[in-house]
Amino acid sequence: MRVTFLGHAAVRLDVKGQTLLIDPFLTDNPLASVKAGDVEADYILVSHAHADHLGDTLDIAKRTGATIISTAEVAGMCAEQGTTSHAMHVGGKQRFDFGTVRLTPAFHGSGISGGLACGFIVESEGKRLYHAGDTGLFGDMRLLAEIEPMDLALLPIGGNFTMDVEDAIRAVQMMRPRRVIPMHYATWPVIEADPEEFKRGVETYCPDVKCVILKPGETYVIDN
Ligand code: NI
Ligand code: MN
Repeated sequence: MRVTFLGHAAVRLDVKGQTLLIDPFLTDNPLASVKAGDVEADYILVSHAHADHLGDTLDIAKRTGATIISTAEVAGMCAEQGTTSHAMHVGGKQRFDFGTVRLTPAFHGSGISGGLACGFIVESEGKRLYHAGDTGLFGDMRLLAEIEPMDLALLPIGGNFTMDVEDAIRAVQMMRPRRVIPMHYATWPVIEADPEEFKRGVETYCPDVKCVILKPGETYVIDN
């Protein structure tokens, strides 16, 4: 499983010859490592409809024909815009040609009336990745990790809208993923946070968890 950080909460996964984008906010993203017009996608996973997550989803999906996977309300809104969408909901799990996707709870607004925000657990090639989306800390992260032990967790650390560094360290303590990558920080001053402080905390309290800090554009390969 190849994981490329595109900046903010935008991630590209390459699995089984398929390209998945998660929350492709690229245009207007000061940290974006690629242009929306240059990315390919077979699937786009959208955690919620705030602009820094829905981002360029509709344009990319219209250009590439990618299937959008999200909660029913967000997927429905995307379908109304003429895209191919697969509606799921929190707690649901579905098999696709690249592997499975589970929608996880996320304590956050959906950005669309009547909707819910979510996170994702993607399983493919024998590896499991958790992208928390935007969320505050919640105790059932422990349950998620018990059901779906994680090879890699991508967690927001920027505070204000989501968990901050301290809360994200607590999340790692509960979930014990094999690896963790911080995201959703320093895009704007309001979510300024130090990923090195997060890494030190993880190394101190969870020495069995490897913390990987990716710069936008960098790729991490989960190979064992
Ligand atoms: Ni949000
Ligand atoms: Mn956000």
